[in-house]
Amino acid sequence: MRRLRRKQGIRHMVRENQIQVTDLIYPIFVTTGENYENPVPSMPGVYQYSVDMAIKHLEKVYSLGIPAVMLFGVPGYKDERGSSAKDPNEAIQRACSETKKHFPDLIVITDVCMCGFTNHGHCGILKDGDIDNDLTLKELTEIAISHSKAGADMLAPSNMMDGYVKAIRQGLDKHGYENIPIMAYSAKFASNFYGPFRDAAYSSPSQGDRKTYQMDSANGKEAIREVELDINEGADIVMVKPGLSYLDVIKDVKQSFRHPVAAYNVSGEYAMIKAATEKGWLDEKQIVMEVMTSYKRAGADMILTYFAIDIARWLNNKE
Ligand code: PBG
Ligand code: ZN
Repeated sequence: MRRLRRKQGIRHMVRENQIQVTDLIYPIFVTTGENYENPVPSMPGVYQYSVDMAIKHLEKVYSLGIPAVMLFGVPGYKDERGSSAKDPNEAIQRACSETKKHFPDLIVITDVCMCGFTNHGHCGILKDGDIDNDLTLKELTEIAISHSKAGADMLAPSNMMDGYVKAIRQGLDKHGYENIPIMAYSAKFASNFYGPFRDAAYSSPSQGDRKTYQMDSANGKEAIREVELDINEGADIVMVKPGLSYLDVIKDVKQSFRHPVAAYNVSGEYAMIKAATEKGWLDEKQIVMEVMTSYKRAGADMILTYFAIDIARWLNNKE
């Protein structure tokens, strides 16, 4: 085996998997106000941006050749029903239209959920302390339509309600958005790796947890059922989330279906690497590239990661 490992050129020739800039999707938090940039303590290098500052920051993303961004809204107000999620004057909707205005070729994907917009922090509408699935579907569909109106290129519903892909697909088609694809957060696990994201999006549930809608992290076969349902309901791209602890699920999804698979290198994965590299215990570039390559080896076609800008720089400089 060592004959093929002796020279870097040969190692590159026999390399099976490689991360490319075009595999990357950059997640960004947008909020209200102007000239505002607020660091997220548990995610060094990640900020909440007012829309004008987000546009400045996205200039980097665009010029590096990263094809897509995922927008998360941090709204100006919250209520029981998460009304701000579909408010056309809110941050996420304005960020959609502004981003398309400044960077028409940058693909804008939006997170379709309610947890950052409800005052209780759950991903749906509560009735007697429990999420009303079908009432929530109606609301999610309206949110999806509001993002589409604002210019989103693709919708990424992350709410894990039953029947969400079908409801959103039908709503989009009925309103003339039949060309907008759905990237479904199909196999989304109730994970402890989302902690830093909830600091960034102010989206922690005030009571209880998300275990009645997000998946039990012990279940692999159930992930395939989830993906199958979403595909049958019209999902165009399916996602596995988180990534690193669920590489087996990514591989199984890739082998079981023919749909493009997205994997989410989530906030907790980012925070762990940042913490260890800040202490000098790991080399950031080397560890990030190894992790990204493992996502590709497992079968991910695209990767959502807060490291996207760094990775694009490393790849573009051919370091
Ligand atoms: C909202 C949502 C979450 C993430 C993406 N969309 C958090 C959650 O379910 O609490 C997690 C992303 C990350 O951790 O980076 N439903
Ligand atoms: Zn949510």
